[in-house]
Amino acid sequence: MRRIIKLTVTLFACGLTIISSLSAPRATAQQQDGLPESAGVEIVRGQCLNCHEADLIVQQRLSKTGWTREIEKMVRWGATVKDSDKEPMADYLARHFGQRPLKAATGQAAATPDASSAERGKAIFENKCLLCHEVDLTGQQRLSRIGWMREVEKMIRWGATVTDAEKDPLVDYLFKNYGPRPRTAGK
Ligand code: HEC
Ligand code: HEC
Repeated sequence: MRRIIKLTVTLFACGLTIISSLSAPRATAQQQDGLPESAGVEIVRGQCLNCHEADLIVQQRLSKTGWTREIEKMVRWGATVKDSDKEPMADYLARHFGQRPLKAATGQAAATPDASSAERGKAIFENKCLLCHEVDLTGQQRLSRIGWMREVEKMIRWGATVTDAEKDPLVDYLFKNYGPRPRTAGK
């Protein structure tokens, strides 16, 4: 009986040593690059920090779809990511750097959907749509709501990082300001 207890104690002590030796370097790595430890972190460390630090990543808040697009964008820009790594990578990124919950103003937004939605859309437009070209390309267009949705989807395929949650307010804004011109009277 005594022997068994002694053996158990020894094994327990060994276990502790192993655990502490495993966790020590991990804690240091997190402090250095700001990426929380959890499943997928090694893939991100291995493939996403070759061209820039982790700060560009931890500043973002994207849905999983948004992160998947961001990964595709980085691949277009030269990152080498295996197809089988994309899913766990997007899971990891969305888990730790997912979208922030919408502000408490949602009740108000429901009362006047278009106005406040279009207002949010203005900020999205300025942040996401003026990276590659000036406002003139957009201002020349007059599109229906569906037309603007298609245009936004097209820009996303071309590299705009608009998240799913941003699409509606953005399209509201575009439609409100660049909707079809009213037909001229007496045609
Ligand atoms: C081949 C080089 C390269 C690799 C590898 C790379 N990136 Fe980037 N990334 C860039 C460049 C260039 C920028 C733009 C930097 C700037 O604006 O200063 C950028 C910017 C970003 C941004 C800021 C938002 C944006 O789109 O501009 C995020 C987020 C990001 N990268 C995430 C990632 C993730 C996640 C990975 C791993 C899949 C990754 N990057 C791998 C080159 C790379
Ligand atoms: C990654 C770069 C990039 C981003 C971000 C971007 N665009 Fe574009 N956009 C382009 C390019 C390239 C063209 C073609 C320019 C040309 O024909 O000279 C274009 C053209 C356009 C046009 C002209 C019609 C057409 O389809 O050619 C409109 C309208 C437009 N963009 C709207 C937007 C809106 C709205 C957003 C925000 C969701 C956006 N763009 C974000 C790259 C971008």
